[in-house]
Amino acid sequence: MLNNNNICANQLIEAEAQSWDHILSYLRPSCIKCAIQLGIPDILHKNPNPIMSLSNLIIALPNLNPSKITFIPILMRVLVDFGLFNYHHQGDGYSLTRVGRLLVENDLSGKRSFFLFAQHPVVLNTAAYMGDWLRDDLSTAFETAYGKSHWDYCAEEPKFNGIFNDAMASDSRLISNLLISDCCVGVFEGLTSLVDIGGGTGAVAMAIAGAFQRLKCIVLDLPHVIGDRKGSGNLEFVAGSMFDKIPHANAILLKVHTPV
Ligand SMILES: C[S@@+](CC[C@H](N)C(=O)[O-])C[C@H]1O[C@@H](n2cnc3c(N)ncnc32)[C@H](O)[C@@H]1O
Repeated sequence: MLNNNNICANQLIEAEAQSWDHILSYLRPSCIKCAIQLGIPDILHKNPNPIMSLSNLIIALPNLNPSKITFIPILMRVLVDFGLFNYHHQGDGYSLTRVGRLLVENDLSGKRSFFLFAQHPVVLNTAAYMGDWLRDDLSTAFETAYGKSHWDYCAEEPKFNGIFNDAMASDSRLISNLLISDCCVGVFEGLTSLVDIGGGTGAVAMAIAGAFQRLKCIVLDLPHVIGDRKGSGNLEFVAGSMFDKIPHANAILLKVHTPV
């Protein structure tokens, strides 16, 4: 026994190891973001051979400071451990895993945009205010951190607004493909119009409008999201707040995230 709390040495070591895991856990997404910034998933994806040697990878990395080349094998080893890349002993090379493939630019079911949004300093800083938020009377931690709603912040910061909208659109690709697949065709039967409320930059509505040409699809979102988008054919963009007015349509589409 080590102390009067009856914790034995093994339990203490296990608790200590878990604590270190929590303390250093911020490094996992930081390393993945670093790989995206360096373009490593894209370089591996574009390589003519599925396996790329470490030396060729280093040559292909743009703007790498030569004095820091020795850190690349360490970064790659960590990312293999995180499941992004496979390491191939033969040839000392790397290839993309299925998870790594999702971080390639413009991958259709990719998670890259969402990853960059979730790792954005504005978002990370919001999470740091969780403790304050639980003690104040504001409805979101974002307001605790920035003194305004996420939507108002987006309206004032076009760059962050773009990153957020891209992340939302990328997140909607899978659901868009499902909605227009055979398994959901009946959902739109008999409808002549629908409005996607808070439809962002229109990823879902565009897919539906393309698949069901006789269905008029309206995207309603805040003015800073709609921007100067006009739409064409059976797709229309409307700038405004759902709390003021919702365009008339047979059906409304509202994507809701339900905790599982
Ligand atoms: C979580 S995002 C979802 C975007 C899109 N539906 C998707 O699935 O990709 C929520 C959207 O609601 C929009 N929004 C927030 N408040 C709104 C309001 N009062 N009226 C209309 N849209 C609003 C935001 O601008 C944002 O685009």
